[in-house]
Amino acid sequence: MNLLEVTNLAVQFATQDGTVYAVNGLSFALGKGQTLGIVGESGSGKSQTVLALMGLLARNGQATGEALYQGNNLLTLPATALNIIRGNRMAMIFQDPMTSLNPYLTVERQMTEVLQFHKGLDRKAAKAASVRMLDAVRIPEAARRIDMYPHEFSGGMRQRVMIAMALLCEPEVLIADEPTTALDVTVQAQMLLLLRELQRDFGTAIVLITHDLGVVAGLCDQVVVLYGGRVMEQGDAQQLFKNATHPYTRGLLQAVPRMDGDDAALVAIPGAPPNMAHLPKGCPFSPRCTFADALCCETLAPLQDVPGAPGHLRACHRAVAMVQNPSQTEPQHA
Ligand SMILES: Nc1ncnc2c1ncn2[C@@H]1O[C@H](COP(=O)(O)OP(=O)(O)OP(=O)(O)O)[C@@H](O)[C@H]1O
Ligand SMILES: [Mg+2]
Repeated sequence: MNLLEVTNLAVQFATQDGTVYAVNGLSFALGKGQTLGIVGESGSGKSQTVLALMGLLARNGQATGEALYQGNNLLTLPATALNIIRGNRMAMIFQDPMTSLNPYLTVERQMTEVLQFHKGLDRKAAKAASVRMLDAVRIPEAARRIDMYPHEFSGGMRQRVMIAMALLCEPEVLIADEPTTALDVTVQAQMLLLLRELQRDFGTAIVLITHDLGVVAGLCDQVVVLYGGRVMEQGDAQQLFKNATHPYTRGLLQAVPRMDGDDAALVAIPGAPPNMAHLPKGCPFSPRCTFADALCCETLAPLQDVPGAPGHLRACHRAVAMVQNPSQTEPQHA
């Protein structure tokens, strides 16, 4: 059974420059203990997708579609009902730890408040449970450090505190927005291992946002590849990595840094992400795509099943041409 079922999610922002269509027609289903990866370059709509699910869009934003959690549509749930789910059954690790840690309160105060509010524990029991959780995310000397303020922790440790806070109430769904981008490579690897262990121990379903397809490969069951607020390709992670059939996904795969640190292997996709207030008429990736033809520039390709691969979806007019000539995805050097 699915824990979370998102259908046709769209997020729009009203701006002085016109309407920004930040997320369009996104659907996925997430079962217990499963991990969904959302990947894409900066501005592709990753954070707004999950902020919409948590009811945390900016005031000028509006979400439509359906996001069912236990039969309730999160997008239309009244704030009081959403507050009971948020931080309790569904929790989020934010892109920047300081957005959800209060710099003026000790970690102890922030953690115990969550347990007092959601679980009705008294302060002493809440503190004991909080220390156990800090231990679980491998904060050394948790019993002493819990009395420290957020700025007294290093970046990596602060990220662990965030994960501990998010997991305090043993949520069924954990949303992690680039939980490792601010960290160095070694700490990143430790954090990802930690998430995997926590998932195994608590059966948590995870929505993991990342720039990095390498991270997705190690952790995710399903992947959604976003570009310009639209799904370019989506499906089972292993399948998708083996048979990426969208020029954008192929480009991202080529941009994955090698673990041996050989930067020569890193090939960036030429060009820059689009201006979301002025998207091209057709496929948002068409201006950067070496396969794009007149049809791509004029008409959006529908998101459709890849023939012979049920559950593997892509939105591309030119995927067949690309599969026949994959070397064309490589950037043309001057
Ligand atoms: N309040 C807002 N008003 C107008 N546009 C917004 C607002 N918030 C976000 N956007 C736009 O929505 C688009 C998607 O933003 P989002 O935060 O989801 O990007 P992202 O994929 O998470 O990028 P990054 O990897 O940099 O975090 C961006 O173009 C952004 O400028
Ligand atoms: Mg983001």
